[in-house]
Amino acid sequence: MAAFSAARMLTGCPFPERVIDGGTCDRRRGAKTVRMSVASDAGTSKYEEGNLALPKWAGKSPLARLLGTLISFKPFYSVLKQGARDVLISTAEKNNIPWRAMTKEILHSDVYMEFETIRDPSLVYPDYYLNPFHAYEDGNLSWLAAAEVEAATLSLFVRAIPEASSKEEASLVIRGNWLKAIRQHLERHSGNLAVNDILDIGCSVGISTNHLADAFPSAHVTGLDLSPYFLSVAKHKEKKRAPRKNPIRWIHANGEATGLPSKSFDLVSFALVLHECPVRATVNLLEESMRLLRPGGTLVVMDQAPESKVIQDLPPVLFTVVKSTEPFLDEYYLLDLKKAIEDAGFLNVSLGLTDPRHRTVTASAPY
Ligand SMILES: C[S@@+](CC[C@H](N)C(=O)[O-])C[C@H]1O[C@@H](n2cnc3c(N)ncnc32)[C@H](O)[C@@H]1O
Repeated sequence: MAAFSAARMLTGCPFPERVIDGGTCDRRRGAKTVRMSVASDAGTSKYEEGNLALPKWAGKSPLARLLGTLISFKPFYSVLKQGARDVLISTAEKNNIPWRAMTKEILHSDVYMEFETIRDPSLVYPDYYLNPFHAYEDGNLSWLAAAEVEAATLSLFVRAIPEASSKEEASLVIRGNWLKAIRQHLERHSGNLAVNDILDIGCSVGISTNHLADAFPSAHVTGLDLSPYFLSVAKHKEKKRAPRKNPIRWIHANGEATGLPSKSFDLVSFALVLHECPVRATVNLLEESMRLLRPGGTLVVMDQAPESKVIQDLPPVLFTVVKSTEPFLDEYYLLDLKKAIEDAGFLNVSLGLTDPRHRTVTASAPY
C-alpha cells in the first residue's frame, strides 16, 4: 500500500471522486451499486451498533459458559484451533491474498539476521504472553507466526469489509478511518501541538507503524513489540523499501513498562493490540502511555468493537472458532474501555465505530 492520496486518507474511499454525502463512498461492482460508509467522526459513526451491550457469546451468559467449557476440552480445542486457521487461509485464498507465497517469502529470506540485533535478552515476558495464541503453540514467539501475520491481517480485513473489491480497498477503509479519527482528534484537541514523536505499541510486523509514518512523514516513529520475531520481520521489510527521511526505530520491550523517557511522545497508538491482552495488562499499558505522552498528547486505540452489530450477529460457529484462539477476548469485551482510559487520567475520550467491526478511541493527556 504505497501512497495514500489526501482524499483517500480522509475518506477511506479509493475513489475520491465518488465520495458523496460527506463521507459515503459510492462504488459500483458490475451492475450492483454498493454504498460503503466511512466514519465521519469517532464519536458519531455511520456504522451500525447492535442492540446488546455485549455479544451473547462474551461474558458470563449461558452461551459464553458453554463455549468456555467446550474450549477448555483439549480435543475440541485442537479441532477449533485448526478451524480458525482454515477459515483465515481459505478467506485469504478466495480474496487474492497469496498466503503461502507471502509466508514462504519471509521464511526463505535473510530475516533471521535481524533477530539478535533486535532482541533484548534481558526482557522478561509477561505470563499472559506465553500462552498458545492464534492457533500457534508458541503464540507470537515463532517464525511461522511472524511470517503469516501480514496475510492473516489482510484476511481478517477482507472479512470485516465484505463490500471491498480487494484486500487493498479493505485495508484502506480500516486504516484510513483510523487515521482520520486521529486527525480529527488532533484538530479538535491538540491546538497547534506538532506531532513530532509517535509510539506504536504492539507494532507487530510494522503495518500500523508504516501507516503512521506515511501519515506523519515529518515525525519520528517508533514501533515497539514483545515479539522479537515480529520485529525482525518489521526491520527486514523496512530495509527492502525506499529509505525514509526519518527511519522507523524498532524496540523489543514490554509496552507495560517500556523504559522510555517520560513525556517523550505526542501520539501513542495501540492498533489491534488490546483484545490480545488481559485487563491487568491493558490497565498497565494505558498508565504507561500516560507517562510517555507529553501534556496534550494523544492516545489512540483501534480494536474490535463489542458494540458492533456485525460482531454481535456473528454466527455461533464462527465466534466459537474465534474465541478458541484469543484467550483474552472475553476480558477485552467485558472491559469498559472508555472508563479504563478515563481512569488512567485521559481527557476528551471519544469512541466510535470506524468500520463495521472496529472502533477507534481517541483521548488526550492533560496539560
Ligand atoms: C494484532 S498485533 C498488532 C498489529 C499491528 N499493530 C497492526 O495494526 O497491524 C498485536 C501485537 O501486540 C503485541 N503485544 C501484546 N502485548 C504487548 C505488550 N505488553 N507490549 C508490547 N507489545 C505487545 C503482540 O506481540 C502483537 O504483535
